[in-house]
Amino acid sequence: MLSVSFLVLASMSGAFARTPQGFEPAVENSLVVSFGSVAAMDGNVLAKASTQTAPTIGTQSKLDGTSFAVVMVDLDIPTNSPPQTNTLLHWLQTNLTQSTSATAVNTTAGSMDVFTLQTSQQAAFADYIGPSPPARTPLSHRYTQLLIDTSSATTQDLSVLQSAAATRMGFNANTVLTQAGLVDKVIAANFFNVTNPGPVEAATNSSTGSGSGSSRGTGSVTSPTQSSTPLPGAAASQKASELLVAIGLVGAAFFAL
Ligand SMILES: *[C@@H]1O[C@H](CO)[C@@H](O)[C@H](O)[C@H]1NC(C)=O
Ligand SMILES: *[C@@H]1O[C@H](CO)[C@@H](O)[C@H](O)[C@H]1NC(C)=O
Ligand SMILES: *[C@@H]1O[C@H](CO)[C@@H](O)[C@H](O)[C@H]1NC(C)=O
Ligand SMILES: *[C@@H]1O[C@H](CO)[C@@H](O)[C@H](O)[C@H]1NC(C)=O
Repeated sequence: MLSVSFLVLASMSGAFARTPQGFEPAVENSLVVSFGSVAAMDGNVLAKASTQTAPTIGTQSKLDGTSFAVVMVDLDIPTNSPPQTNTLLHWLQTNLTQSTSATAVNTTAGSMDVFTLQTSQQAAFADYIGPSPPARTPLSHRYTQLLIDTSSATTQDLSVLQSAAATRMGFNANTVLTQAGLVDKVIAANFFNVTNPGPVEAATNSSTGSGSGSSRGTGSVTSPTQSSTPLPGAAASQKASELLVAIGLVGAAFFAL
């Protein structure tokens, strides 16, 4: 009997990119990204509520490296000059290690045996922020994840990543990874969409963020403790919003995710 993981693997052996069309660097190997029981793959659309804590990531075959980093970028940040868009770094965690044995991950795509990547105690260069596309054009955002083999990265290479991660808005993965000498070390990738149900609202130039409530979309599940923060999620988003405030992008923060 063919297992689901074999079928998934077989379907992934074609030489097409796991990254969105036009994205650089284009990556062919698949990164498994799972939010609990929900698989994020092939640009499928996930409910915002299921994406608010960092996913389990892994690969279906064991990798050779000893140390990895994950990057997640939103490629579809609305701007005040549509259809122009910007990018936002949602996650940059280094010093991941891979489990030596595969574990079954239940997803909407079936059960997969995955060698998961585990977070070390090392703080993220950029904490995970859950997707939260606003009611602006484009309503649907592509969230791209890249897995980088940092086994032979130098302290200096990693510090390039760390400095770049300090500015989430406009994060260009290709440029940053090239500067860090790691663009050839991107070994697996994935992307999924999260879509605001709309309708599109007029842009506001207000620096007080009066549109923050509506920009968070409707129908999402938000716990009472989170409702007073402009960004969804818990501590990580709080930090992110503080960071954005600190660098004077508070206005952008309300519609950027
Ligand atoms: C990565 O984590 C290990 C422990 O898990 C630690 O010994 C090592 O110093 C960390 N590497 C970096 C670059 O911080
Ligand atoms: C995975 O799914 C199977 C069948 O649907 C179920 O029996 C099992 O308990 C699930 N495992 C986990 C860890 O959720
Ligand atoms: C994902 O988002 C992109 C960018 O907005 C859009 O072009 C694409 O149609 C979306 N995909 C799905 C399946 O909604
Ligand atoms: C926002 O500001 C830009 C330039 O400052 C202006 O061109 C645009 O019309 C403004 N949009 C709104 C909705 O006020």
